[in-house]
Amino acid sequence: MTQIPHVPISVADTPIVDPEVAAPFSDRADYVEAVATARAAAAQYHNGSDLRMDDAAYDALLARIAATETRRPQWKVPDSPADLVAAGVAVGGEIVHSEPMLGLDNVFGEEPLRRWAGRLERLLGRAVEALVVEPKIDGLAIAACYVDGRLTRVATRGDGRAGEDVTGQAQRAAGLPMQLNRPLTIEIRGEVYMTDADFAVANELRTGHGEPAFAHPRSAAAGTLRAEGRAYDAPLSFIAYGVRGALSVAPDEPPPHSVEMAGLAELGVISTAATGGMTVCATIDEAVGAVEALRVARGTLGYGVDGAVVKADRPADRELAGSSSRAPRWGIACKFPADTRTTRLLGIEVQVGRTGVVTPVAVLAPVQISGVTVTSATLHNFEDLDRRNVRVGDVVFVRRAGDVIPEITGAMLDRRDPTSTPFPPPTHCPRCAGPLDRSQKRWRCVAGRACGAHEALAHFVSRDAMDVEGVGGKIIQSLVAAGMVTDVADLYDLDRSALVTLERMGEVSAAKLVASIQASARRPLSRVLIGLGVRMTGRALSRRMARHFGTMRALLDAGVDELQQVEGIGPERAATIVADLGELEPLIDRLAARGVNMVEPGAVPTVRSAAAAPDDPACPPLRRPNGTPMRVVVTGAVPGLSRTEGNEAVERLGGVASSSVSARTDLVVVGEGAGGKADKAAALGVRIMPAARFAALVAAHAAGKTAEAAALLAEQ
Ligand code: IVH
Repeated sequence: MTQIPHVPISVADTPIVDPEVAAPFSDRADYVEAVATARAAAAQYHNGSDLRMDDAAYDALLARIAATETRRPQWKVPDSPADLVAAGVAVGGEIVHSEPMLGLDNVFGEEPLRRWAGRLERLLGRAVEALVVEPKIDGLAIAACYVDGRLTRVATRGDGRAGEDVTGQAQRAAGLPMQLNRPLTIEIRGEVYMTDADFAVANELRTGHGEPAFAHPRSAAAGTLRAEGRAYDAPLSFIAYGVRGALSVAPDEPPPHSVEMAGLAELGVISTAATGGMTVCATIDEAVGAVEALRVARGTLGYGVDGAVVKADRPADRELAGSSSRAPRWGIACKFPADTRTTRLLGIEVQVGRTGVVTPVAVLAPVQISGVTVTSATLHNFEDLDRRNVRVGDVVFVRRAGDVIPEITGAMLDRRDPTSTPFPPPTHCPRCAGPLDRSQKRWRCVAGRACGAHEALAHFVSRDAMDVEGVGGKIIQSLVAAGMVTDVADLYDLDRSALVTLERMGEVSAAKLVASIQASARRPLSRVLIGLGVRMTGRALSRRMARHFGTMRALLDAGVDELQQVEGIGPERAATIVADLGELEPLIDRLAARGVNMVEPGAVPTVRSAAAAPDDPACPPLRRPNGTPMRVVVTGAVPGLSRTEGNEAVERLGGVASSSVSARTDLVVVGEGAGGKADKAAALGVRIMPAARFAALVAAHAAGKTAEAAALLAEQ
């Protein structure tokens, strides 16, 4: 068995709908309408190139239909979508399958998966010998016939009994060779799908020929598979998950599924074994771990995976368990929370990046996608926006693959308001009103880095950031106008002789300015981060990141997983921070080359769970008994410290600086001029420390007087 640690399926990702607990309809008319809706959606899912509802909504609807039929069997319509082989798809075809192509029953989450395994073992009357866990590829099922090693015919699943002939298109799918490495006569079943990269290519080809873009990789695969005689060929891929017929001449006994899949790989067919996604497990505990590992890896596969399939590996187990008319009892689909949902596009904002790149960004009605609330998504560029045919007011498909920034893949055209109009792309830079360079896909403000340079510089030198004394708005304006400075790193190249050429700048002022700029190079890393204004971070988060990673190098090397260890950083924020730091890296390198400090003095790695023991003298004072950081609010003036410095001190002392008081606050430092926060702390019974004592604590800690610091903290 491939070693995968057992991790429970996370609570945040437990699905919204579990068919076992879905609410039945209480009104027959509602049930009938739901059946009609599910049929229409299923027909589009399997046949069309546009989708009526996202998978999560479809699964929820089907679950309610099934629950209604269990509660009120007398209402049940013939051929209910809840129990048809291909969930209500009416479109059969001319090719009758050698054996019906069944579906799989679904479970959502760990507990139902364990219950399924329990039922399987009861059916077998013994423990299952081995289980395999495979990705559930989000594409279309096909059956491919090989005669003497040659691909002769490929059919879709259709209604499960008979499917359409798609040989012409399917033979182009990567992974489904025209000729096997041996002259076998077998039938291979698997999924035709489109990779994320090919989806982009397919849409370029399609819109280049004046056709509307595909909304989703699965619709793109469906549309492409059926499209005969097109002027262009969009790329397709194939992964096999089953085979009928023997791969070896005279097997003593039928081989396990995992062995057959490995055998297919030897024939030149891509199978679930060849993609590296298959895990053979001895127990259900191992299978649960493998399902979770797949869920975590899902965003990195480069193609859509909507769940994991858990199957008995041994033919003897499969035989004994058998199948219902709809699905085998030896296998189950463990569905992941949908990574694609639909929501309303409320608006489009045009953002200008640091280098002047102009990007359309979608503002969305909040939608939950795999445990994260998404409110904005990238629309890449204006060419793409046009190609995807997305308009404000549309219901759009939003995809959040793993930890990457969510993207809009397309709109539901049949639900579009007929009075809507396409988004007018900007004619000028929305920040500086200057001209745009539209010669490339990514439009840029012609001013490049200089566009917005004034804002970026003013922020960098401000008191809470690098605190560069004497550099005000006017000076920045003259520096930018004279072309001396286009970004913050240029500041550190300024010398006296250059500065005196500016209007009303004397020798003395120039020397002072150079000195204060150079002095700012010694500020802690947290100030550099604040100054750079990393997207989706503010002062407090910049400080936390600096303390967590200690050095800029460590921060730049961190991936989304490591960033999420910092309090307040979830998956969406982590992805944005990683992307933005990548964009900032050349600038950071230039700052470092000019001697700007990239280290957080006295940084102690922040730990979320068990941490340095609080009685360890090396442990900073503002830690709870379990070693995790205290949540501290500083309100009012602390003698000798600015507001930012007060918060920095909290974090140097091992705490987390927070701006609002709640029951979760451990300590409130109250100084002169404190307002309602002090009252709230008193009302909530949160511990209060006078600012003077806090200043003494900061001084004692800085001087290494651990015992004195501890005494000051213990004082009530
Ligand atoms: S096994 C008897 N394995 O999911 C059915 N199916 O909802 C055996 N699918 O119709 C199917 N990946 O189109 C199996 N690794 C996988 C799969 C997989 C995707 C699809 C297939 C099937 C549907 C069931």
